[in-house]
Amino acid sequence: MRKLYVVGIGPGSKDYLSPAAKKAVESSDVVVGSRRAIDLFEDVEAEKIELGSKNVEVKIELAISKVEEDRSVSVLSTGDPGFSGILKPVLKKVGDRDDIHVEVVPGISSIQLCAARLQIPWDGADLITLHGKGISKKVLKVIDNGKPTIILPNFKIDEVANFLIENGANPDRKVAICERLSYDDEKIVITALKGVLEEEFSYMCIMVVY
Ligand SMILES: C[S@@+](CC[C@H](N)C(=O)[O-])C[C@H]1O[C@@H](n2cnc3c(N)ncnc32)[C@H](O)[C@@H]1O
Repeated sequence: MRKLYVVGIGPGSKDYLSPAAKKAVESSDVVVGSRRAIDLFEDVEAEKIELGSKNVEVKIELAISKVEEDRSVSVLSTGDPGFSGILKPVLKKVGDRDDIHVEVVPGISSIQLCAARLQIPWDGADLITLHGKGISKKVLKVIDNGKPTIILPNFKIDEVANFLIENGANPDRKVAICERLSYDDEKIVITALKGVLEEEFSYMCIMVVY
C-alpha cells in the first residue's frame, strides 16, 4: 500500500528543511501544499497540487484519492504538521480507514524558531494558537502568569495587540514580533504592546508577550 506522508517543511527557508522531509517528498508521486511549500521542491519530479487556505478539505480528499490509485503522496505543512498544521484535517478525513497508511514527518515549527531567535527556553513558556479560533479573554489570564507567552495569531497581529489593550493589558507591556522567520527579509521587532499598532506587519508573524 502507498503512503500518505504528512510532511513538515519548517518555517520556510531550505536551511530548515530536514533530510527526512526531503526523502519523503522525493519518494512521492504527488506533492500537495501551499505555493511557498511546493516551491521548496522545484527539483522534485512529481505531480504538484497547490493548496490554498480555502480549499484544504477538497485537496486532502484529492490527496487521499491519489493514494487510492496506488500513488505515494506527500501533503506539506509549513512548520510542523502537528501545531496548527495540516495533520488535524488529514486525520479527520482519513478517519479509521486502515487502507490509508499515514506517516508524519515532523518539521521545525515557526514557534520553535521564534523561541530560538529570542533565546526563550520554550518548556518554560506558554504556547497559544489562535488558528481556527478567535482570540478570547482567556489569553489575558495566560499572559499574566509570569511566563513568556508565544502566540501564533490567525489574523493580523495588530488586531491581537488591539484586543489585548482594549481588554485591560498594559499597553507598555514588552512584546516581540517575529516576522517571516528564516527568510532573507526576516524581521524581529522588540517593542511595547502599543508599539505593534504603529508598524505594519504581514500575516506571517509570531508574537511573544513577556
Ligand atoms: C497555518 S499556521 C501554520 C503553523 C505551522 N504548522 C508551524 O508549526 O509553524 C500559519 C501561521 O504560522 C506562522 N508562521 C508560519 N511560518 C512563519 C514564519 N516563517 N515566520 C513567522 N511566522 C510564521 C504565522 O503566524 C502564520 O499565520
